[in-house]
Amino acid sequence: MNDNLEKDLAEIFEKIKEVAIYIQGVIGESEGEYFETQNSTGDMQLKADVKADLIIEKELSKIATIKSLCSEEKDECVICNLDGRYHVGYDPLDGSSIVEANLSVGTIFGIYDGEFTGENLVASAYVVYGPGIELVLAHKSVDLYTFQYGVFEYKKSLILKERGNINSPGGTQQHWEKHHKEVIESFFNEGYRLRYSGGMVPDLHQILIKGGGIFSYPGTADRPKGKLRMIFEVLPFAHIYELAGGGAIDAKSTRALELKPEHYHDTTPCFLGSKYEIEKIKEAYAKS
Ligand code: AHG
Repeated sequence: MNDNLEKDLAEIFEKIKEVAIYIQGVIGESEGEYFETQNSTGDMQLKADVKADLIIEKELSKIATIKSLCSEEKDECVICNLDGRYHVGYDPLDGSSIVEANLSVGTIFGIYDGEFTGENLVASAYVVYGPGIELVLAHKSVDLYTFQYGVFEYKKSLILKERGNINSPGGTQQHWEKHHKEVIESFFNEGYRLRYSGGMVPDLHQILIKGGGIFSYPGTADRPKGKLRMIFEVLPFAHIYELAGGGAIDAKSTRALELKPEHYHDTTPCFLGSKYEIEKIKEAYAKS
């Protein structure tokens, strides 16, 4: 029982607002340039990734209640306050490979009260850097803020309808399994529209903003465990989607929030969407 949870989260949320503005600045300066280094999973590091990571580490470590910071860009967590309580998993700049095409990218945060499992997630947040900056903070509800006149203004709470009409299918299609191909096709046959940018933050944000749909990144022959990392990407968004009234599962139809990563960079196939689409995925995978 943590009586200070609301107060602690309010402080962390305020800091996330600050770092979002700094990161927007470094994206604008980066011009899609890369360092000659790779991160722990072999991706070339974009200057903006590294800078965004440094900004988050510097700023969030100032919060005494944060015990450790675990970045998608690093192999190990950074312990910042031994007496702190929360462990923050974050992806400083998700979708860095599409920065050079000037597409929207984002930052994702998961705030864990204890070890990095879905059950310990007490809050999640993400920032979308697009034509404007938008921020979503999720604790008891999923709240959208837009950056206007130098401050983040609360706009509304986001709720998913029972079903939507957006289909956002990731993974190399050549390697999709038959049942996956069929269920993705079945959404199109029901009139769903393709929306996939290659950045999970704007893609999942669009589904939330429009009120429904399905985002998938399956396991495939070339990537049996999918691509997206649990701690930094899948669990925070699973928390957000469930709070908004939708669902998030893996390829065995297990709730993503029940998954327990063994290693910081573990990935999982994932499906996030409104209830109708998640049920259809479960049926299709149960038959496979
Ligand atoms: P990265 O940060 O390396 O650009 O990866 C982005 C992630 C995620 O945001 C997106 O949904 C997915 O990778 C896209 O992967 P594909 O290019 O395989 O579709």
